[in-house]
Amino acid sequence: MTVILTLEIMEMKTFDAIWINATLVTCADGYGLIKEAAIAVKDGRIAWLGKMSELESSAMQLAEKVYDVESRCMTPGLIDCHTHLIYAGNRALEFESRLKGKSYVEIAKEGGGIQSTVKATREASTEELFLQSYPRAKACLLNGTTTLEIKSGYGLNLETEKKMLLVAKRLEEELPLTIKRTFLGAHTIPIEYKQDKDAYVDQVCNEMIPEMAKINLADAVDVFCESIAFNYEQTERIFQTAKQFGLDVKCHAEQLSYLGAAKLASTCHALSVDHLEYLSLDDIKTLKENNTVAVLLPGAFYFLKETKKPPIAELINARVPIALATDCNPGTSPILSLPLIMNMACILFGLTAEQALLGVTKHAAKALGLEKTHGTLEENKVADFVIWNVKHPVEISYYMGYGSLINGVIKNAEVVIPVSSRGEDRGTQ
Ligand code: NIG
Ligand code: FE
Repeated sequence: MTVILTLEIMEMKTFDAIWINATLVTCADGYGLIKEAAIAVKDGRIAWLGKMSELESSAMQLAEKVYDVESRCMTPGLIDCHTHLIYAGNRALEFESRLKGKSYVEIAKEGGGIQSTVKATREASTEELFLQSYPRAKACLLNGTTTLEIKSGYGLNLETEKKMLLVAKRLEEELPLTIKRTFLGAHTIPIEYKQDKDAYVDQVCNEMIPEMAKINLADAVDVFCESIAFNYEQTERIFQTAKQFGLDVKCHAEQLSYLGAAKLASTCHALSVDHLEYLSLDDIKTLKENNTVAVLLPGAFYFLKETKKPPIAELINARVPIALATDCNPGTSPILSLPLIMNMACILFGLTAEQALLGVTKHAAKALGLEKTHGTLEENKVADFVIWNVKHPVEISYYMGYGSLINGVIKNAEVVIPVSSRGEDRGTQ
């Protein structure tokens, strides 16, 4: 992307900035390609887009800044709608144990897995947690993510759950990212409640959710409904409480076994149901009826060497919107790149590159309740976009390990990558 002109003329221009000679991938209807196109922004929003030939006058007359994209593809900023990006420590040694033959469930039952990250996260100060999480959030941005969801869930007590979501809030203040915060106090049962799981659910419903709502720290509530976490009845109770407090719900559903959680969450008007490897075909019509997004997480599928795939063809046939996310977490998906996840979704789950791109744009926006403002290139939407060093969008899913394919990232109409002015560099690991 080359800035070809910055005029400082007193007269008011129609647009703050315009990108010309672009291949726009609007994602509004399939790829929604517009070649030889331009996109203009005003006050942080997309003010105009279309064929260059349809511009009313020259780009230089219309906008304060003109950028030449030189035929590159421009997509909406990518949206990562399911992450556990804030945590302390890592689980590399657990990875080694799994390579030697132990299963994820065995490790969890022995008190490792999520519990070991809970211990490290409880022990970390807010500052340490921020400093460990910041490079991950920055890596997301460098991979083209402009909006992401971050869950709590490695605290399992009010103090640490709050600490995690406060760190999420600070990441949003310090990086050009939109961050949705999800309370996942029901990620697993903390060891101090092992003998009385319902007492922990009482804690989640009577203290944690009311407090999160009161201080406005969470947008949604998630539950890991699974044999090693919360059962159907406990999940239902937590969802009902979330609804009473005006919070959206989402669910880790049918990841390792079938418990009926996706149908339950969908009936509670969940924004999304996530994982779904063991989803029953009978439950797909409920998802469709309730307009629930199915979030697939091929990174966790790959990293756990899962062999049972979600019922993808049936979801597509039923026209359930499919989103994709990194599920970034230390145990099952230490991944930050949505383009890599798109490639995995194509190879492992048989999505087309077009479906994969919609999964990290239009449908991911819907999974976060942001479909009116984000996820596509359309007039009045927030001006978040990525300029790719590619001529056709299929290349974003196609290349692996080429380094970044990104030429530029624009967040709220500002060019944030490449950083033009002297920038901080705390994010380099
Ligand atoms: O989405 N399924 C539950 N939660 C995470 C894993 C968390 C962990 O192992 O730390 C997931 O895969
Ligand atoms: Fe997850």
